[in-house]
Amino acid sequence: MLELAQRMVFCAMVCSIYARASCPSRCECSEAAHTVKCVSKDLRAIPNGIPGYTRNLFITGNRISRIGPACFQGLDNVTNLSLSNNRITEVESHTFADLRSLRYLDLSNNQLTTIHPEGFSMHNHSLRELNLSRALYNHSAVMDLAASVRQTTLGSLQGLDLSGNGLIYLPSRTFSRLGQLRRLQLSNNSLVAVRNATFWGLEQLEELDLTFNALKSIPEEGLRELDALPATSSLLLGDNPFTCTCAIEPFALWLNRSQGRVRDDEALACAFPAAMRNVSLLAAATLTLGCYQREAGADLTLQTSYVFLGLVLGLVGLVFLFVLYLNRKGIKKRVYEARDACREVWEGYHYRYEIDSDPRLSQVSSSADA
Ligand SMILES: *[C@@H]1O[C@H](CO)[C@@H](O)[C@H](O)[C@H]1NC(C)=O
Ligand SMILES: *[C@@H]1O[C@H](CO)[C@@H](O)[C@H](O)[C@H]1NC(C)=O
Ligand SMILES: *[C@@H]1O[C@H](CO)[C@@H](O)[C@H](O)[C@H]1NC(C)=O
Ligand SMILES: *[C@@H]1O[C@H](CO)[C@@H](O)[C@H](O)[C@H]1NC(C)=O
Ligand SMILES: *[C@@H]1O[C@H](CO)[C@@H](O)[C@H](O)[C@H]1NC(C)=O
Ligand SMILES: *[C@@H]1O[C@H](CO)[C@@H](O)[C@H](O)[C@H]1NC(C)=O
Ligand SMILES: *[C@@H]1O[C@H](CO)[C@@H](O)[C@H](O)[C@H]1NC(C)=O
Ligand SMILES: *[C@@H]1O[C@H](CO)[C@@H](O)[C@H](O)[C@H]1NC(C)=O
Ligand SMILES: *[C@@H]1O[C@H](CO)[C@@H](O)[C@H](O)[C@H]1NC(C)=O
Repeated sequence: MLELAQRMVFCAMVCSIYARASCPSRCECSEAAHTVKCVSKDLRAIPNGIPGYTRNLFITGNRISRIGPACFQGLDNVTNLSLSNNRITEVESHTFADLRSLRYLDLSNNQLTTIHPEGFSMHNHSLRELNLSRALYNHSAVMDLAASVRQTTLGSLQGLDLSGNGLIYLPSRTFSRLGQLRRLQLSNNSLVAVRNATFWGLEQLEELDLTFNALKSIPEEGLRELDALPATSSLLLGDNPFTCTCAIEPFALWLNRSQGRVRDDEALACAFPAAMRNVSLLAAATLTLGCYQREAGADLTLQTSYVFLGLVLGLVGLVFLFVLYLNRKGIKKRVYEARDACREVWEGYHYRYEIDSDPRLSQVSSSADA
């Protein structure tokens, strides 16, 4: 009872309450094509009265901020639902639960900040494709999504598009319950690493797209993770800022061995350092076979030259001090000589001055001279 009341309140808040008409106002309905479109109509909510025959429902380009379960009641036949470009920020618990035939769900280009852990729970495990490209507004949404995807049963999901979400890292085992997933799009994010257990559980994954990310290399941990994907025959890794220092050697060698599993392997190129820019990673693999002798040697040479310079400067300083020390008597003598010379000169002047200024003293002086 309470739940029903809550739902009705929610419906009143979130979904417009129009009388169930043959076609919601501001939408176009085609019974023959089983299609309803409400495109760029400035709708603030999912309209009521969407006909039961609808299989393809496009509510795109509007300004709907929240979606909840009351929005989609009685739409048993909907297989394709697109809610892209709606500025949706919140997905309520069991939002899509009544869409028993739903196969394709497009939530791309929204601004999700809150996804209820049960947001994607469905009564029937029918969902095949979920498009969340450019849909997650910030890290809160990423964590919510990870929690939601981990605990709900999207067991039949075959395609998941998470491109363009600014993802920096993926919580480990995010996809652990997506055992049927075939395609995972992670392109155009900011992923810096492939970590242990990032792709845990993706037993059926065939295609993994990691292009346009921030991978500087894929160290051994990540290579093991990629090797652990049993069914993946198509990996895309292009347009990452690969940094071709010696540390990339395991990755380059792995690439050389991967034999077409990395579909764009020939297009992979170093981005840094400047001297290596645009050098193919595969070529780098062969170049760097002597990496530890050559480049490490170069590093060593540089370090050695600094150490050597330091030593030489230190030595010169020591020699200088030593020479000073050896000559301390001579120097002392010279210092005394110089001091005496100065004193003589000074006293000479002083003497003459006093003599000149005091007639009595000049007398004494002339007697002393005598
Ligand atoms: C779904 O489609 C079937 C067959 O086209 C139809 O019989 C059924 O009434 C539809 N469901 C709803 C809720 O309208
Ligand atoms: C539903 O969407 C999928 C993927 O976007 C598409 O391949 C399919 O043709 C659509 N189905 C209909 C009936 O429009
Ligand atoms: C579950 O979905 C399938 C289509 O994927 C449909 O044939 C079946 O009737 C649905 N089951 C229920 C209980 O809605
Ligand atoms: C997801 O949606 C975006 C934008 O709407 C589109 O470019 C992309 O092709 C879709 N992804 C899939 C896997 O269909
Ligand atoms: C994400 O955005 C929402 C709404 O602007 C905000 O409440 C939340 O704190 C943000 N989360 C993070 C991690 O920035
Ligand atoms: C990557 O995503 C940004 C926004 O997140 C978008 O502006 C840009 O066009 C996308 N680039 C590609 C190659 O998809
Ligand atoms: C990677 O994860 C697996 C399972 O979580 C664990 O058994 C293994 O020890 C981890 N390896 C490393 C190097 O962390
Ligand atoms: C792998 O490296 C060997 C030389 O070590 C080279 O002959 C071969 O062409 C490379 N394979 C690929 C796919 O580049
Ligand atoms: C890198 O190489 C490609 C062809 O392999 C070329 O089209 C591109 O202009 C080069 N970029 C730079 C910055 O040299």
